[in-house]
Amino acid sequence: MCGIVGYIGPRSAVPILIDKLRRLEYRGYDSAGVAVLEHGTCTVVKTVGKINDLAALLEQHPLDVNIGVGHTRWATHGQPSTPNAHPHTGNSGKLAVVHNGIIENYVELRRELEGQGHVFRSQTDTEVIAHLLEEKLDNGAEGDLYRALQLAAQDLEGAYAVAVVAESCPDRLHVVRKDSPLVIGLGEGENFIASDPTAILPYTRRVLYLENGDVGVITREGVALSDLQGNPIHRDVTEITWDVGAAEKGGYDHYMIKEIHEIPDAIRHTLRGRVNSDGKLAVTDLGLSDDDIRALKRIYIVACGTSYYAGVVGKYLFERILRVPTECDIASEFRYRDPIFEPDSLLIVISQSGETADTLAALREAQRHGVKVLAIVNVIGSSMYRESDVNFPTWAGPEICVASTKAYVTQLVCQYLLAFHFAVVRGQMTKEEADRLVGLLLQVPGQVQQILDGEDIYRELAENFMESRDFFFLGRGLDAAVSLEGALKLKEISYVHAEAYAAGELKHGPLALMWTDVPVFVTATQLELYDKTLSNIKEVKARRADVIALVRQSNTDIDEHVDWVIRIPETDDILMPFLTIIPPYLLTYWLSYALGREIDQPRNLAKSVTVE
Ligand code: F6R
Repeated sequence: MCGIVGYIGPRSAVPILIDKLRRLEYRGYDSAGVAVLEHGTCTVVKTVGKINDLAALLEQHPLDVNIGVGHTRWATHGQPSTPNAHPHTGNSGKLAVVHNGIIENYVELRRELEGQGHVFRSQTDTEVIAHLLEEKLDNGAEGDLYRALQLAAQDLEGAYAVAVVAESCPDRLHVVRKDSPLVIGLGEGENFIASDPTAILPYTRRVLYLENGDVGVITREGVALSDLQGNPIHRDVTEITWDVGAAEKGGYDHYMIKEIHEIPDAIRHTLRGRVNSDGKLAVTDLGLSDDDIRALKRIYIVACGTSYYAGVVGKYLFERILRVPTECDIASEFRYRDPIFEPDSLLIVISQSGETADTLAALREAQRHGVKVLAIVNVIGSSMYRESDVNFPTWAGPEICVASTKAYVTQLVCQYLLAFHFAVVRGQMTKEEADRLVGLLLQVPGQVQQILDGEDIYRELAENFMESRDFFFLGRGLDAAVSLEGALKLKEISYVHAEAYAAGELKHGPLALMWTDVPVFVTATQLELYDKTLSNIKEVKARRADVIALVRQSNTDIDEHVDWVIRIPETDDILMPFLTIIPPYLLTYWLSYALGREIDQPRNLAKSVTVE
């Protein structure tokens, strides 16, 4: 996904821009570039490929400058190529633009601008912004770039975070934002721009999160903000509290395995402030009144990918504990299927980034119908965080690996706490029972650690299954819900085809695919469903598949039926998802490692999907 950076100050801008671009590499990209003002002249250097390619170009053409913007592009309109890479310039070449998002009306705008004599050099939607700015500078803004940006933004439809450098403003950067994140980092006598605060962290922790429709002009000394009409506005400074070290690999080969090992702490942090020092449930500042909670008639959970699979666990949970009908939907389906919104319902959006375009659209759709939205996001200040009615954040810390792991587990924590809290308020669970479950939840970080301490079996499994081309994941109830996430993780990182099925579905189709040596990962921890799952294991084994069984510590009868056994600590059935997801995560990591995959940046995938 695209990334924007910018710098203005006394220091040499190019090394700072390159460093910040490297910090955004994890988002995935196909080309990169910078635009700077060199002796007052707008100079663009860009290339298809990696940041190292850009850095090599810049070494050939050293630029001693103090102001500039940079970009990593992930192609949406037009192939990955150098002409399509950002920054883009207009006819005059005197200003350059970097952009994240999609300009939906760019075809019409381009046609109009071409009619006015503008010559386009790329296939991108972004280039229209540069030409449009030139047009507005001449007609309407009287040479004032700040005004031109306000006017140009009024003509743009879609999502954008834009940063501009221009020869007419050698001491200023300009920015505008709608539906695509942009932050300004505040330094001493210098300021920074980034689409993601991770890029700014080594330079400053004080940031301004821009809101939709904010236009900004940034000098060395300060920042002025306005709305699109030019009325001055104010945004509060946010102090970022994450540790920079938390965003680095910390001795592990990959962010993925580092982040898996951070799961115990991520759970503890997410419980903090919601469980009191006596270990009792204490969700106090939710922003949903007890009356709202009592009135609840329906819950919708909407999310994408891994966050959606966390929601599938939530559906089981809310229905089981609250007896409130709960729908869990993929955001891209939900937003277009004209859902029926009922009064007294709550829509829960789940998102690590808080920026996923389809989830954000679902949030807005629900609000348009008067439905209250509760957001479970990991990025404070993200669009979902700002736009939802109620926030109940995960505290997983920055997740750098494209594949989500620790965020998923903390998304479960938030849903469990909500379910327990709602159930107590609605009188469906006694406070004592909720506190008993919270007591067990407090033991989970230690139990996850025990599983992490036994990593050897996953390396052994990885060695054994290196040649396998298909994997199946089976389970029932909550074990089935977690299997979905296990299969997603395996396919996205190892590139081995993986599918998850509710074990009861076997006879309805997938049994045809069970034959000699096909690996089948069966999770069988739900006590009430154990006998049924064991029958499924026997069916699969009868077809000579290779069965890996994930069972409770106390299970003594599985060994004779399967090829491999993984035992995990005991807890209540309902809390098992916190533990059953860890083995598939470790198996995925070690299999992908053995296969030499690009673990942190799997092909074709990006961390934050801010386009449809
Ligand atoms: C998979 C993964 C993705 C994301 C999905 C939603 O490992 O990370 O499936 O879960 O793109 O992203 P968020 O949670 O940021 O809305």
